[in-house]
Amino acid sequence: MKNLIDIESLSVDEINQIIMRASEFEKGIRKSNHSNAHCINMFFENSTRTKLSFEMAQNKIHCNKYDFCAQTSSINKGEDLFDTINNLSAIGMNVVVLRHNSDSLVKELSQKTYFSEISFVNAGSGMSAHPTQALLDFYTMKKHFLDLNKKTITIVGDIAHSRVAKSNIALLKKYGAKIRCLAPENLIGEKIEGIEYHSSLKEAFEETDIVMVLRIQSERIKEKIDIEKYIENYQITKENLPYAAFLMHPGPINRDIEIKSDVLELQNARTILNQAKNGVYIRMAVLDLLFAHQGV
Ligand code: CP
Repeated sequence: MKNLIDIESLSVDEINQIIMRASEFEKGIRKSNHSNAHCINMFFENSTRTKLSFEMAQNKIHCNKYDFCAQTSSINKGEDLFDTINNLSAIGMNVVVLRHNSDSLVKELSQKTYFSEISFVNAGSGMSAHPTQALLDFYTMKKHFLDLNKKTITIVGDIAHSRVAKSNIALLKKYGAKIRCLAPENLIGEKIEGIEYHSSLKEAFEETDIVMVLRIQSERIKEKIDIEKYIENYQITKENLPYAAFLMHPGPINRDIEIKSDVLELQNARTILNQAKNGVYIRMAVLDLLFAHQGV
């Protein structure tokens, strides 16, 4: 694996390899020491989980990690990100972990850097892709259900502006899961073939094994959203959550908007912090494979 840009570019074999490697790291049966590897984290959008779990993963596999601060960098003197990346590669960076509000920048950079050896990991690109989130979600689901074929996953919330939803749908489709999307018309986005779309919560939650909740991504929405109406029709509560459903949320949660605060105390919601925990193993596995590709 040279880069991790999106789920669509991964084969099922590659996904299985990442999952297996994450499991080996979690069980402590794989140890890695990449003391010759140099990895830079470049976050141009806010992050808590992704940034810190990449840092934790980097510490655990003993690579050298660098934090790129856009505000104090020479990007503020007008340098193009393409030139910045080429310079970072010349300095000796092996891997760039990039979060950016552009849908396509990480892919473009991976295709045109002057130094072809540098690898990229997409840590969230605009509204288009968040592959390590989908991989950690899949890992979390698989640990519980083993086989997702024919399991029903209902994704609820702002699907239109969610890179998490898009990457999860791309991944789950590869494994034959039944996917439902539940959202008001203005948050459903472009419809994808093979997915069931619902606007009624009652209908969408029938025989659902997993409920994946997304926040309303106000920072990406230009028009005004009627939050009260959203809460009335789509907020997850103790009353409407199917009794045995596995509850997931990529974070950050906006309590009492997409999910009522007391739902987070239920057994069903324990999954959410497991998602964060599993993110470390997935990111260890991804970086380990990229460093192996580079021989560092
Ligand atoms: N799930 C996720 O990407 O969280 P952060 O934005 O905190 O990294």
